[in-house]
Amino acid sequence: MVTLSLLSLCLLSLLGVRGEVAPNFDNCEDSFFRNTPVSGLKIALPTPIEPNTQGLVNPAKCLSAYNAASPAYICQRNGNNYYFATLYDHGRRIPLYSAYQMDIEGVPGREGSIVYYEPQLVHPDLPPEQMDKIESSREIGKYNQNNECLERSPQYQRKYKLGWSQALNENFGSYDRGHLNPAGHHKEDASKATMTHTNVAPQDRKMNKGPWNRYETRLKDVLSAGCSKMYVVTGVVPGDTWVDQNKRVNVPSHYWNAYCCTDNNDNPLRSGGALGPNTNLSVVTEYNSVTDLETELRRLLNVDNNFNIFNGC
Ligand SMILES: *[C@@H]1O[C@H](CO)[C@@H](O)[C@H](O)[C@H]1NC(C)=O
Repeated sequence: MVTLSLLSLCLLSLLGVRGEVAPNFDNCEDSFFRNTPVSGLKIALPTPIEPNTQGLVNPAKCLSAYNAASPAYICQRNGNNYYFATLYDHGRRIPLYSAYQMDIEGVPGREGSIVYYEPQLVHPDLPPEQMDKIESSREIGKYNQNNECLERSPQYQRKYKLGWSQALNENFGSYDRGHLNPAGHHKEDASKATMTHTNVAPQDRKMNKGPWNRYETRLKDVLSAGCSKMYVVTGVVPGDTWVDQNKRVNVPSHYWNAYCCTDNNDNPLRSGGALGPNTNLSVVTEYNSVTDLETELRRLLNVDNNFNIFNGC
């Protein structure tokens, strides 16, 4: 068994399969209706460049997210399974959207709390699955050791590196860590996989606990009725404000959602969505047509007609 899995690991690396942060969503394309990711959303800011590299040894190998592409395509992997897809804006340190299939049947779970990070956003060579802070830190430490990245340089310290590549638990100020793919749309393990910092953005507490939560419940309990599959994409509109003065983590101006309900031949039955400002007085507007939602989103996101959430739903 051990030999076998070692062998397959070697094969995987020979084939260039790197786990979950990749140049595309190939490892998790079934999260999207007809395996087609959202198109035309080219709004991510570039990965921040460490301003102070004087005296650093081997920055190309040792600096977090060095030369990393933005956005990052994350196939959210927990243990050995892929659960959903996230397009992550490295520059704003928030997800632009998460896409998933809802678990329609059964009682939703809410397994655990938001504890995971994405090691491969720090260095592509780190393990491909979600890890909590302690595990991530251990892996960064190992990497530092193997690559002679001396931690007496503050920029090479584990927590600094993790926080350079993504938002940390303590970077949300008075905002909630608002799920894009909500735990309540999934059973056990899939629910647990939503508990990662790359699937949350700063969300006003009143909106999160109030109208957005009510909409998420309605999506699960009412809008998915009669569907064989329910493809869902939840995203944000990046805002002009940031949680902190250093512009580490962006505060979205809006949260949006789109769904595509299909029959058992994967033919669309209906679609719709919702949009609401990320404020304490938020009112969530529902849409019976993804086309109408897209029209409104193109204006808010400042993108053109190439922006399409679903490929023909
Ligand atoms: C809502 O937010 C505004 C501006 O941030 C603030 O002035 C107001 O007191 C808040 N209202 C409530 C009901 O929390």
